[in-house]
Amino acid sequence: TKGVITLDPGYKNTGSCESAITFLDGEKGILRYRGYSIEELAEKADFLEVAYLLIFGELPNQEQLDKFHADIKSHSVVDDDVKKIIDAFPKSAHPMGVLSSLTSALTAFNPSSVNVDSEEEMYNAIVRILGKFPVLVAWTMRKKQGLPLDYGDDNLGYVENVLKMMFKSPNKDYEQNDILVNALDKLLILHADHEQNCSTSTVRITGSSHAGLFVSLSAGISALWGPLHGGANQAVLEMLEAIKEDGGDTKKYMAKAKDKSDPFRLMGFGHRVYKNFDPRAKIIKVAADEVLGDLGVEDPILDIAKGLEKEALEDKYFVDRKLYPNVDFYSGIIYRAMGIPVEMFTVMFALGRLPGWIAQWKEMRMRKEPIGRPRQLYTGETLRAFTPIEKR
Ligand code: SDX
Repeated sequence: TKGVITLDPGYKNTGSCESAITFLDGEKGILRYRGYSIEELAEKADFLEVAYLLIFGELPNQEQLDKFHADIKSHSVVDDDVKKIIDAFPKSAHPMGVLSSLTSALTAFNPSSVNVDSEEEMYNAIVRILGKFPVLVAWTMRKKQGLPLDYGDDNLGYVENVLKMMFKSPNKDYEQNDILVNALDKLLILHADHEQNCSTSTVRITGSSHAGLFVSLSAGISALWGPLHGGANQAVLEMLEAIKEDGGDTKKYMAKAKDKSDPFRLMGFGHRVYKNFDPRAKIIKVAADEVLGDLGVEDPILDIAKGLEKEALEDKYFVDRKLYPNVDFYSGIIYRAMGIPVEMFTVMFALGRLPGWIAQWKEMRMRKEPIGRPRQLYTGETLRAFTPIEKR
């Protein structure tokens, strides 16, 4: 009784894609960017090197990296009129909604970033957004805090500059803290790409209509905002805080997570692809101990997180379903120790994912892929005659 169509075998299914950027093996817990293991890159590279690797396919030599950074810095000023847009938002606006809007609005101030067909035009759009996006991230946070917005300092490194724009107090000198720089560098590397996840697929399919890079990224930011995706890092901290307020009773939350009648899920656990440990979660868990130790921060939330992880890894429901901690489970603990507000956690995820989104959008455009058009299996009504309203 239900109509079902069969796909014409010749129809080019655009629901999935080929890509040479990131490889992950969900069963073995393997993640590689352009063939380099995430473990090596997190330990030995810095974020801008990894951004270059993802976007252009090779690790840069010093001259290439210096030129890349210089080109990015030459485009790191955001048009002052963008402040009028950010001023229009209520302080209660979620930073992800502000960031998505500002990223899309950048198109109006950089019209050359829309019709990019040549490699040169694409490069110009890429260094523009890599230069301006950190400013938007910092402005989004500072606006919410009622603090002045600034354009950063071209004499600083990429990650150093992000931290200064976010944390410089208006009435005293800013002192760089290498613990924070190294922690943020590692977190951004670990978030930089992850093959065809929800937000990256959104960037690719939006860009496949030849919509500009900035609006494609804006669509990706909106997709990332969801609590089942990047929004999980904020939801994890809110969950851990609730458990702490509740006297640290993790068993009650484990029971809720297993109760099918309860929509609650253990945030930061499970993954569409990883049915083993998320390799990023392993690295971030170690980093959380190191960073909090180096900063001299005692955070009971970390102990609750470790207790929850231990319980889940011994619980039949989680073990049978291969539910392990994912990238979002420990990252928020580090962001919090760095002094980043919980509502900004997913914005930090977007800052890390930016080069991956750019690389995937560039690959799709350079390969001249057709417009994305996933098909469906139709399960609705078969043909039926119209019934006049007086007869319904
Ligand atoms: C990211 O795709 C990517 O690569 C994403 C990402 C990236 O880098 O881009 O890795 C980033 O988004 C990580 C995921 C962050 N989200 C969360 O932590 C939210 C909590 N996790 C879940 O909502 C869930 O695990 C998802 C959304 C991540 C995956 O959802 P699925 O695909 O529906 O999970 P599944 O098919 O593996 O579920 C199998 C079973 C189901 O139960 P049964 O129907 O078999 O009884 O496990 C259950 C699910 O209900 N389950 C959970 C659970 N996750 C899955 N039960 C309780 N708590 C959970 N977290």
